[in-house]
Amino acid sequence: MIFPGALTDPFHRRIDYLRLSVTDRCNLRCLYCLPPQGFNGSPAAELLSDEEIARIVSIGIRLGIDKIRITGGEPLVRHGIVELVHELARLPGLKDISLSTNGVLLAELAKSLRAAGLSRVNVSLDTLNRDRFKRITRFGELDDALEGLQAALAAGLSPVKVNVVVMKNLNSDEIEDFVALARRLPVHVRFIELMPIGESGFFSKERWLPLEEIQKRCGVLEPLDDTASPKGFGPAVYYKSPGALGTIGFIGALSCNFCRRCNRLRLTSAGRLLPCLASEQGENLGRALRSGATDNDLAGIIRKTVHEKPEQHHMGPEQNKMREAFMCALGG
Ligand code: 5AD
Ligand code: SF4
Repeated sequence: MIFPGALTDPFHRRIDYLRLSVTDRCNLRCLYCLPPQGFNGSPAAELLSDEEIARIVSIGIRLGIDKIRITGGEPLVRHGIVELVHELARLPGLKDISLSTNGVLLAELAKSLRAAGLSRVNVSLDTLNRDRFKRITRFGELDDALEGLQAALAAGLSPVKVNVVVMKNLNSDEIEDFVALARRLPVHVRFIELMPIGESGFFSKERWLPLEEIQKRCGVLEPLDDTASPKGFGPAVYYKSPGALGTIGFIGALSCNFCRRCNRLRLTSAGRLLPCLASEQGENLGRALRSGATDNDLAGIIRKTVHEKPEQHHMGPEQNKMREAFMCALGG
């Protein structure tokens, strides 16, 4: 009997969170993520439809998944994203639906996403400087992302988090500016260590700034316990600068082993279910679904993937082999 029962992996971690990539396309080309010409991703025919995604999520819910994050690529470039959010938000049993975006299309969509049932957003924003934004994203406009961020706050999406990937000699001189942003706006800035995943050849020890170093540059911060931290289910540890409206979080992708608290599975837009960010292949849930698998069969694949979760990833700062898959296909 595959239903019911919670998902627990061999390392006693409760798996209740699913990251859903809904497209591997993106309207930007961040240096660490994509090559200039973009990503020749999965054929359009493999893209899971709204109905297929909803079916997988409802099976996940019956197995104890109660939180989902919609990712990409850039999820807001998926045709009909608001309707998809609406469809997922209607599924009984989900406590939280969040979305990770580069913010460029958020000014247009924040209100309707909120109305469709989205709880909150994470905006990826690595610089507050216009020229640099263009350089890091290869052609984006900073003002679009900032307007998106404001629109998210105005629409009542809460909490709003800002993800900053810190790169030495590229944006590491802006750490204080982001701390100041979290002081004047009710946003939760999370500094993320660069990882050796994505655009091949970008990651190097010269670009990697360890979390400890990032933390030192933030000035005086007071630690926050779980009850005072913004709502979330990820690996960040939060702090606050005195008198600030928002908070500062740190995600030590390589320095700290956040794997111990891992609670998640990842579904790619072409329907592969991955046990870990560092996994190469995963089970093809989409193909199984299209070849007539029953809900029980699909639940069996989900359980098997949970069972295959590694204890931890083995990415490190010394790594010279990039993880070949693109982050835009993995869903961050
Ligand atoms: N290292 C660290 N973070 C990355 N992201 C994408 N690629 C990398 C990388 N190589 C971040 C994005 C986004 C989040 C989902 O993952 O900037 O904020
Ligand atoms: Fe697009 Fe995000 Fe990759 Fe930048 S990091 S290119 S915004 S998917």
